[in-house]
Amino acid sequence: MTVINSIADFRELARRRIPRAIFDYADRGSYDEITLRRNRAELDAVRLRQRVMVDVARRSLATTLAGQTSSMPLGIAPTGLTGLFHADGEIHGLRAASAAGIPFCLSTLSICSIEDLHAATKLPFWFQLYLMRDRAFNAELIERARAAACPVLVLTLDLQVMGVRRRDAKNGLSVPPKLTMRNLIDVLCRPRWVAGMLSTRRHSFGNLEGRMSVGTGMRNLSEWIAGQFDASATWKDAAWVRERWPGKLVLKGVLDASDAREAVAIGADAVVVSNHGGRQLDGATSSIDALPEVAEALKGRCEVLFDGGVVSGQDILKAVALGARGCLIGKAFLYALAARGGAGVAQAINIIRSELDVSLALTGITDIQSVDAGVIRR
Ligand code: GLV
Repeated sequence: MTVINSIADFRELARRRIPRAIFDYADRGSYDEITLRRNRAELDAVRLRQRVMVDVARRSLATTLAGQTSSMPLGIAPTGLTGLFHADGEIHGLRAASAAGIPFCLSTLSICSIEDLHAATKLPFWFQLYLMRDRAFNAELIERARAAACPVLVLTLDLQVMGVRRRDAKNGLSVPPKLTMRNLIDVLCRPRWVAGMLSTRRHSFGNLEGRMSVGTGMRNLSEWIAGQFDASATWKDAAWVRERWPGKLVLKGVLDASDAREAVAIGADAVVVSNHGGRQLDGATSSIDALPEVAEALKGRCEVLFDGGVVSGQDILKAVALGARGCLIGKAFLYALAARGGAGVAQAINIIRSELDVSLALTGITDIQSVDAGVIRR
């Protein structure tokens, strides 16, 4: 593909460049993928209000997200297995995000570990945590994130049990990736990806070394999650994390007003309105539908971030108008990374930035911070 000028182009290129099982892990959702599709359909359905004859020659997208300065209302979401989309993907992702002046969040289920990412880049990044039964391991991960100078901890609330991604099971997705009779041709047709993987020692869950016996990997991830993640966790446990974490705390997976109020009560600095990218409760409402209700319940007491289908600057403008301070991209990031590595991520951020900048101007607004619901046509 010679000209790439949308996230859809990156998706298409990624599909051709990496093994099917890895592409599908990012691309697909849980069960019948109703919520996955709803996220996109309902973002598409939001209408922006065009305004004309306003001086929009000078514009600003700069903001803060969870108290950190950001060049635009966008950050990179925590995504599992990132280092399998491109060799050392977390390192390339963080470098590209930092160069663009936006935050990058490392997942617990990343390939590159907290320490590895810190040592390789010396750049600040956010860290995402799950509540596990082994509280000592949680405490350890929190301490490791603190030692790596992470300014923000993102606690994921919506994966106490795992939604079934049927496609992953059918593809036999494994971590570390394995060559099998079934995927042989598929993998061999991606020589660039194979060469990348052979060039790095990072192939498995870096943060979980010693916690997941070798050879079990992703094939048993849902079993591992069932064994490790704490399905009995309540707001008391989120408060336990709050007590231990001195930095900013973001709670991810809030889709309901009463949950949003609980987040405020335990002292969260921000919530992410999210249905885990349509990967958990299939049938849940779209993130964009839930956003105004959550923002209204919080009434500015807690910052609102947003994810769920964001692939363009127009999507960001819609989310900001409906109450988000900023958006996170997961799938869009992984497509760009898989397609063109760190340069792809940089290009994807640029494309989205330009879309947001132009769209802001065409709604007659010059500063992202003054966007409100007036930008939306009801
Ligand atoms: C992990 O959080 C996943 O959605 O796969």
